Amino acid sequence: MNRKRGLTQPQVVEFYDSLGAKQDKQNYYEDIALAELLKHARFATAQTVVEFGCGTGRFAEQLLTKYLPAHATYWGCDVSKTMLNLTRDRLANFVNRETVWESTGGAILPLPDASADRFVSNYVLDILSFNEIFAVIGEAKRILKKYGLLCLTGLTNGKGLFSKAWTAFWNVRFALNPKWVGGCRPVEVRGFLDADWELEHYHIAVARGISSEVVVARKR
Ligand SMILES: C[S@@+](CC[C@H](N)C(=O)[O-])C[C@H]1O[C@@H](n2cnc3c(N)ncnc32)[C@H](O)[C@@H]1O
Repeated sequence: MNRKRGLTQPQVVEFYDSLGAKQDKQNYYEDIALAELLKHARFATAQTVVEFGCGTGRFAEQLLTKYLPAHATYWGCDVSKTMLNLTRDRLANFVNRETVWESTGGAILPLPDASADRFVSNYVLDILSFNEIFAVIGEAKRILKKYGLLCLTGLTNGKGLFSKAWTAFWNVRFALNPKWVGGCRPVEVRGFLDADWELEHYHIAVARGISSEVVVARKR
């Protein structure tokens, strides 16, 4: 498995600034994993949600519209100005409940210790190096309250014959030119969790051969 990033931080920003709203076309394989996350992360009892890499704000809008209690707040960040603007437009009806912050790409977020009860990241860790994935999960541990939930989805290795073939094809494209796949490659994020996490739910969702990992882990 590739431990390193495919795209540098400036290349990631350039790619997602130019992709913009077209990111939502990935819903043909993301939605099945996001539905699984929504089913198992108990958002109905969440008060404070943090999202690392909010993209177009599609998941945030879903959370605020349908899944969170009326008083719950959302904090999201991204490195792409285009994505941040799309998220702000999308969340315009929730101005008192949302904060959207521009990141320079590091794992450290300007949030207090033990201040959130959900830390979400969808299809972002699969862009990062292994060291950066460890750093983001470490930051999630700092920010989450005791028993807070880490909620992750992302590309992972296929298990069946067809999805194994897809994984191999994806890895070839990533190796030839990571821009073809937005810098993303299959990763097994479950392996990054240490003994401070209790795995509550794990699932691999497959859509058209593309496998996505769904992880819900509780901070002990
Ligand atoms: C594949 S998109 C996924 C977007 C969204 N979470 C979704 O599921 O549709 C990856 C997003 O992560 C953002 N991103 C990449 N590296 C990041 C970092 N280090 N910190 C925060 N956001 C990052 C990109 O700008 C992009 O919006």
